[in-house]
Amino acid sequence: MATIEFADVTKEYPGASEPAVNHVSFTVREGAICMLLGTSGSGKTTLLRMVNRLIDPTSGKILIDGVATTASDPIKLRRGIGYVIQQVGLFPHLTIAENVRIVPSILGQPANLTTGRVDELLTLVGLEPKEYRRRYPRQLSGGQQQRVGLARALAADPKVMLLDEPFGALDAITRERLQDELLRIQGGVSKTMIFVTHDVQEALKLGDQIAVMSEGKLIQFGAPGELIMSPANDFVRRLIGADNILRQFEYLSVVVALEPGAAPTSVRIGSDATLMRALLTLIETGQNALTVEDDGNVLGQVSLASMYRALGKTGALPGVSADSAEAPKRRATPAAQ
Ligand SMILES: Nc1ncnc2c1ncn2[C@@H]1O[C@H](COP(=O)(O)OP(=O)(O)OP(=O)(O)O)[C@@H](O)[C@H]1O
Ligand SMILES: [Mg+2]
Repeated sequence: MATIEFADVTKEYPGASEPAVNHVSFTVREGAICMLLGTSGSGKTTLLRMVNRLIDPTSGKILIDGVATTASDPIKLRRGIGYVIQQVGLFPHLTIAENVRIVPSILGQPANLTTGRVDELLTLVGLEPKEYRRRYPRQLSGGQQQRVGLARALAADPKVMLLDEPFGALDAITRERLQDELLRIQGGVSKTMIFVTHDVQEALKLGDQIAVMSEGKLIQFGAPGELIMSPANDFVRRLIGADNILRQFEYLSVVVALEPGAAPTSVRIGSDATLMRALLTLIETGQNALTVEDDGNVLGQVSLASMYRALGKTGALPGVSADSAEAPKRRATPAAQ
């Protein structure tokens, strides 16, 4: 695992009127999945490719575990970095197993991958080795090729993974399956990942951290919940769909609606639950409030009213302003319209 720090990174392509990446600074936590989210042309790919030095910054630095990427030879640097792109780029004349095996040898790693390890990697991405290892890329569907691309990037056991819209061209169902696969893999092998997408749903689902880009600039950087709870501006608010109440319930932690004291019922919920889980638990148990706990310690309680108040602060609920959220007993008077 590794931290990746972008320190005032700028990239100006020759002849362009505006920088493609404009003074961007943020730090990806060790072992986190950081999503680069933004509209087309906002500089996501440029930023990503500066990490493995396919592009060098015009100014600023990128530090991996505190060491500037420019301090190492690009080839050596790339040994520690897996790179997955949308056009998978498998070698057509090599079998699937050979495609997976080839990356470590290209990178000059001493030992070849054993057949056992190749099979392990294929299994990891959900491809039955017996069925697939001897096939050629053209004998696989697009989604299956994408999985091989992922297995191949994992083969060198890099501590950093860069993924540029790896699931962009896939249908919604396959895409969701691969997203789940990625989360499962991340649960086991835990690498620091930077993942480019323009799909908000994907960013919210996969991201521990999200960097929102627009026209080369970093507009906001934070956890999904932070972006939904307090979008930096209208652009982020609209992009994230921060006003969408379902989205809030789905992605905000129950902790945002916490109020002091234990609930007067025995029903408890973990602090890692979402508002949605809390809401469903309230409905299923017919209770008015739930105690929120963390490792057996009571953190507080939540109720429909406390959620309503918490979401009122985000401005998502009509007729609930921050003021009425502060004074729960006072019913908000219907807005004169
Ligand atoms: N090699 C290049 N030479 C000149 N300009 C470039 C080059 N590559 C990218 N650009 C410009 O830099 C800007 C950022 O491009 P980039 O590919 O980083 O965007 P992106 O956010 O990845 O977009 P998309 O979502 O469409 O992939 C764009 O305006 C693009 O036209
Ligand atoms: Mg791109």
